[in-house]
Amino acid sequence: MTVHFIGAGPGAPDLLTLRGRDLIAACPVCLYAGSLIPPAILAHCPEGARIVDTAPLSLEEIEAEYLRAQRDGQDVARLHSGDLSVWSALGEQIRLLEKHAIPYTVTPGVPAFAAAAAALGRELTLPEVGQSLVLTRTSGRASAMPEKEKLSAFAATGATLALHLSIHVLDRIVEELIPHYGADCPVAVVYRASWPDERIVKGTLATILGELQNRPMERTALILVGRVLGAEDFRASALYSVDYQRRFRGRDSRAGEGED
Ligand SMILES: C[S@@+](CC[C@H](N)C(=O)[O-])C[C@H]1O[C@@H](n2cnc3c(N)ncnc32)[C@H](O)[C@@H]1O
Repeated sequence: MTVHFIGAGPGAPDLLTLRGRDLIAACPVCLYAGSLIPPAILAHCPEGARIVDTAPLSLEEIEAEYLRAQRDGQDVARLHSGDLSVWSALGEQIRLLEKHAIPYTVTPGVPAFAAAAAALGRELTLPEVGQSLVLTRTSGRASAMPEKEKLSAFAATGATLALHLSIHVLDRIVEELIPHYGADCPVAVVYRASWPDERIVKGTLATILGELQNRPMERTALILVGRVLGAEDFRASALYSVDYQRRFRGRDSRAGEGED
C-alpha cells in the first residue's frame, strides 16, 4: 500500500500531469483538498473508489483515513491544488506516514504562480529587469511568518514577488511595497487562474486598490508585483544571440539549451 501525493494543478482539469491522472485512475482511495480540486479531476477515480474531501477533516481524521487504507491494503491518491512543494501541508502528512512506515510518492503539479503568469502571457524573469522570483505570503491565522521573512526584506531586493494567500491584506502590501518598488510599479492580481471564472486585474501599486474597489476578489487570488510585468524595452536573452550560437551551439548543439 502506498500513498501517492499528487499536485492537481491550478484548476483547469487538463493541467493535471499524465502521471497524476494515471495514479488517480489506479487508486481505490482518493483524498482531495476541497473546492480547489475540480470534479473533472475526481472523474479519473476508478468506479467505486472511496473519494473523501479532506477540507473539513482534522489532521487526526486524515491520519485515520491513511490507517484505514493501510489496513485494507489500498493505495491512496492524495490530491492537493497546484504543486506540492509550496503551501500544501505535504510536510506534516509525510511526517505522519513515516511514523506509520507507510510508503509514499510525490508527483509535482503546475503551481498557481505559473498558471497566473500564463494567464497574463508574461515571463516573470527578463534580462536585466528581474532575475529572481520570490514566492511568499503574509502572516495568516494558521501560520505566522518567520521573523526574518519580512515582506520589506524581500522588497528591498526588488525581485518580482508572487504573493499567495494575501489578497485580503492588499492594502497593507501596497503600503509596504511602494517605498521599495515605486508607486508606478506594475501589479497584476489573478483570480482563479485557469478556472472558467478566471479574472485578471492589472494596475500599479498606486492604482490597484482602486481597480479592485468595485470588483473585489476573495481567497484564490495571486498578487504579482514587479517591473517585469510592464517591461517592453528589455535586452533579449543572450541564449539566442548570433554570437552565442556561434560560440556555443556550433560545438555542441545541446550545450546551454534553456540556460543563459
Ligand atoms: C494553500 S495555497 C496553495 C498553493 C499551491 N500549492 C500552488 O502550488 O500554487 C493557496 C493560494 O495559492 C494561490 N492560488 C492557488 N490556486 C490559484 C489559482 N488557480 N489562481 C490564483 N491563485 C491561486 C492563492 O494565493 C491561494 O490563496
